[in-house]
Amino acid sequence: MPRNKQKQIDEVCSFENVFCEPCVDGKYFENDAPLILEIGCGYGHYTIAMAERFPEKNFLGVDKKGDRIWNASKNASKLSLKNAGFVRILIEEIGDFFPEGSVDEIWITFPDPFSKPCKHKKRLTSARFLAIYKRLLKPDGILHFKTDNLKLFDYSVEVVREHGEILEEVRDVHGGSDGPQILREVLTHYEGKFMDKGPIYYLRFRIS
Ligand SMILES: C[S@@+](CC[C@H](N)C(=O)[O-])C[C@H]1O[C@@H](n2cnc3c(N)ncnc32)[C@H](O)[C@@H]1O
Repeated sequence: MPRNKQKQIDEVCSFENVFCEPCVDGKYFENDAPLILEIGCGYGHYTIAMAERFPEKNFLGVDKKGDRIWNASKNASKLSLKNAGFVRILIEEIGDFFPEGSVDEIWITFPDPFSKPCKHKKRLTSARFLAIYKRLLKPDGILHFKTDNLKLFDYSVEVVREHGEILEEVRDVHGGSDGPQILREVLTHYEGKFMDKGPIYYLRFRIS
């Protein structure tokens, strides 16, 4: 591993806007504004852009990769964003990080597709993960899912039909005006890279 990457991984947990251990009382911000999570935030572009766009809400990007969280944290600090932070953990462990019913919304943005059938359980929209998200969300909590992978999207639609309720389904976010405007106005890093190569799919849903 390059020395610089290792250094980033070693120091990331000491940053003020990065959490590697759960906060007492699950209070990650000084106010009681709604809490929005981005699952698999990578370098944090989307979490930061949403925090800039909605200063009245708090955003936490979650990812397992320390070097990505390091960059996300530095970029949020440069912008002096008080309503953006990052959590470095496995999504599998997110249930221990937030009190039950404390999260208002979750964005699952361009997760890895895990195409092989034996790896489907690793998909961040599998039933196993939906059960984890359900515990964290408020009773009326909403999830948003964006992907460029049709097979993953169709799979996720099936899982949500079985375990929740689809509120909105858009099969070509940038090819029309379906869905909320924010879908076209704030893009993730992956979305910016792949939106010219095919449709972007979006699902808004609840878990029952
Ligand atoms: C394809 S990238 C998408 C990044 C970003 N959401 C975007 O749209 O630009 C997927 C990210 O999810 C993270 N990830 C995948 N599985 C994870 C897991 N089980 N726990 C934590 N992070 C995970 C990876 O480290 C990676 O940064």
